[in-house]
Amino acid sequence: MPTILIVYHSKTGNTEEMAKVVAEGAASTGVKVIRKKVQKATMQDLLKADGIILGSPTYYGSMAAEMKAFIDRSVSYHGKLEGKVGGAFASGGGLGGGVETTVLDLTKALLIHGMIVQGDPWGSHYGTVSIGKPNASAKKECKKLGEKVAGLVNRLAQAS
Ligand SMILES: Cc1cc2nc3c(=O)[nH]c(=O)nc-3n(C[C@H](O)[C@H](O)[C@H](O)COP(=O)(O)O)c2cc1C
Repeated sequence: MPTILIVYHSKTGNTEEMAKVVAEGAASTGVKVIRKKVQKATMQDLLKADGIILGSPTYYGSMAAEMKAFIDRSVSYHGKLEGKVGGAFASGGGLGGGVETTVLDLTKALLIHGMIVQGDPWGSHYGTVSIGKPNASAKKECKKLGEKVAGLVNRLAQAS
């Protein structure tokens, strides 16, 4: 059974709420889902996963330092994550506060690892974003992110 790993940082709970709904969306497709705060996630978790979804609050227009440190540590496995499916989500304090630049920064790291990231022509184009405590519409997007990443992982697993 394919595995989706969700790694996130959250200090006041908003990104964590998003992570829980992303996990629900992924699990609804029948994959195994592992959801970990970044402090608990390991490089082995990255290697074992078929899909990796990263989430962070927006701090000064980019990801939290904890997420950046985790990504920087993954350089030891540079090249080993190639071909895995990726996705990203971010929480911010206000519109125009940099939530999209945060989600793009997370996505850049996934792309640099050689991962496959699907865009979205309808909702959050670059990755799922939310302001403050996620409302119903943000949660719908979070669920969709989980479903999309897991759906692509399942399709690739069937094709190989
Ligand atoms: C150090 C710090 C920097 C922040 N910088 C920004 C920012 O640049 N733009 C923004 O929209 N929100 C900013 N925020 C607000 C958080 O992104 C927002 O409250 C988020 O929902 C927190 O997520 P969490 O509840 O998962 O910790 C900042 C918060 C902190 C603590």
